[in-house]
Amino acid sequence: MKEFTSIRQLGDIREALKKADYVKKNPYADQTLGKNRTLLMIFFNSSLRTRLSTQKAAMNLGMNVIVLDVNQGAWKLETERGVIMDGDKPEHLLEAIPVMGCYCDIIGVRSFARFENKEDDYNELILNQFIKYSGRPVFSMEAATRHPLQTFADMITIEEFKKTDKPKIVMTWAPHPKALPQAVPNSFAEGINLTDYEFVITHPEGYELDPAFTGRARIEYDQDKAFEGADFIYAKNWAAYKDGAYGKVLSTDRSWTVDSRKMALTNNAFFMHCLPVRRNMIVTDDVIESPQSIVIPEAANRVVSAQTVLKELLIGLEA
Ligand code: CP
Repeated sequence: MKEFTSIRQLGDIREALKKADYVKKNPYADQTLGKNRTLLMIFFNSSLRTRLSTQKAAMNLGMNVIVLDVNQGAWKLETERGVIMDGDKPEHLLEAIPVMGCYCDIIGVRSFARFENKEDDYNELILNQFIKYSGRPVFSMEAATRHPLQTFADMITIEEFKKTDKPKIVMTWAPHPKALPQAVPNSFAEGINLTDYEFVITHPEGYELDPAFTGRARIEYDQDKAFEGADFIYAKNWAAYKDGAYGKVLSTDRSWTVDSRKMALTNNAFFMHCLPVRRNMIVTDDVIESPQSIVIPEAANRVVSAQTVLKELLIGLEA
């Protein structure tokens, strides 16, 4: 594999899940693969899970790791071409990226949607510049439109916890005080659409996601109805995608918070969230603390997800 920006790049999802199962059972089996290879992780945005799990995954593979927080200690980077650089940004991304490429073998990039321009976000302006100018295999650690490492971890977790071959998966919007990108729900939808699981997305009107991602999912505006018979509840907030309201918070209606009354409508569903989660906005304390909450094993699988992806990228370096 030469690049990982979408779950689709893993190829056959069943085969990818088998590879992840092997990695989980044999975490130190490939330590020579990463020997004398360096991973550079570049963060334009904050992270807890992605940073720690990807670093741990790289160490399990015998790699060296360098982490750069672009907004803490590095030169402020200009990203627009043609700008007269007489402001507070002394370095341009177009020099910085190939320089970064000189110091590593693989680059991971976290760069969220900025909500300034929908087209720029959905064209993955920052991530694609790394792909074009770094000269290295690049993987997404959450970009403007997708978070494939999270999605792969989610799918590994569903595989481990599902009790039927074709579980009912419900992705529900839930309230949040700030505008959050669509990367996680887009990416989750993209992943579930690779399976034959029943898939329902529920959200208030106005929160429709890009149909390119939601695909075959049934959209249900009645959250109670959506929850009926669900085997997994995947909660997430996202800001509006539609033209004219892109990146806006249209509602903070707490009647959409996932609580025990709604979970009682399900088939004793497991509760999932990518974290970080705002308690009593997205989900009540009792639900996230319940035995049906699998947010911690889900986060733990971020190491398995990252290690499986890094392993494929390392194999790709040798090809
Ligand atoms: N879920 C996730 O990506 O967490 P972080 O933002 O903490 O990395």
